[in-house]
Amino acid sequence: MEKQTIEHDQVKEYYGKILTSSQDLQTDACCTEDNIPQHIKNALVDVHDEVMLRYYGCGLVAPELLKGMRILDLGSGSGRDCYVLSRLVGENGYVVGVDMTSEQLEVANKYINYHTQKYGYSKPNIEFKHGYIERLDELGFEDNSFDIIVSNCVINLSPDKEAVLREAYRVLKPGGEIYFSDVYADRRVPEALVKDPLLYGECLGGALYWNDFLNLAKKMGFIDPRLVKDRPLNIDNEKIQELMGTIRSFSATYRLFKLPKLENHCENYGQAVIYKGTIPYHEDILKLDKHHLIEAGKVFLVCGNTYQMLHETRFAPHFEFIGNWKTHYGIFEGCGTNLPFEENEDSSGCC
Ligand SMILES: C[S@@+](CC[C@H](N)C(=O)[O-])C[C@H]1O[C@@H](n2cnc3c(N)ncnc32)[C@H](O)[C@@H]1O
Repeated sequence: MEKQTIEHDQVKEYYGKILTSSQDLQTDACCTEDNIPQHIKNALVDVHDEVMLRYYGCGLVAPELLKGMRILDLGSGSGRDCYVLSRLVGENGYVVGVDMTSEQLEVANKYINYHTQKYGYSKPNIEFKHGYIERLDELGFEDNSFDIIVSNCVINLSPDKEAVLREAYRVLKPGGEIYFSDVYADRRVPEALVKDPLLYGECLGGALYWNDFLNLAKKMGFIDPRLVKDRPLNIDNEKIQELMGTIRSFSATYRLFKLPKLENHCENYGQAVIYKGTIPYHEDILKLDKHHLIEAGKVFLVCGNTYQMLHETRFAPHFEFIGNWKTHYGIFEGCGTNLPFEENEDSSGCC
């Protein structure tokens, strides 16, 4: 890939010069669900208005168990998610945001001291770096150096998504995860539409066909991508609607664990887990993904991959583990290949 591509220039122009607030967007991509958990709402209240105004994300990127974590945000924009995470990781955690658009970074950097004081920290636990998410090596990020990576409505904008996932895999610690929201299409977007600067800027043109994304993620080492949440996008602009025709776009949050021993399919080893109910804010039920809502105290049957996602990660102390790897009982039911997203909008409201 060239160091700086036309797509990079277009995106910088769009997010640096054309848009001034989320109200300028032409789709409801930046709508965030009504049911934001209370502890996230509490953290959002303290984020500075100017940072909030330039929020262009499409989902909620705050997974469980963040205290003390070292987190990287790919395409951090004006810093809304970083500032929420800065609060949730606590004073001993650390958050790094990376973005290539100076105007966005300027807003993010302007409020570091404001939030440090607001949270009562003795020194900042956050920094923003100017750079490209395809080339994290240029920013000096070492292998296995982050517990969690987040990203909110950014990877679709990258002209080299393979490089983004490769770098994400490299800098994640084993057992770490990338937990991110992005836009996907129900089919491959035709080249002519990918080249349209408005569609690209609006996160529609560069969106991957969902199955191409799954295959790419697997190729880059994230062997069993887990869908956490999804919703169809509404397009409020006739011209864009016409250009997109029958292509349907979705916002979806995936979590991809760096666990090299995961298998290509969910295999059954007769294993189960019991959730202890000890994860803060999720005492009754842990939603590992859309298909794994794990109630506290209940024996919950799991495939080998889910077992690893709980046993080899920061979730381990919160579970009892039943079974081993001695006997393989065949495929674990429920591995599907249909469109993974729901086509009807459920509860969503504009940000
Ligand atoms: C849709 S906005 C989302 C910003 C932020 N995540 C949020 O939720 O408000 C996309 C952001 O990603 C940044 N971005 C896009 N492609 C990038 C790349 N290849 N490298 C670094 N930043 C990038 C843009 O500059 C922009 O700030």
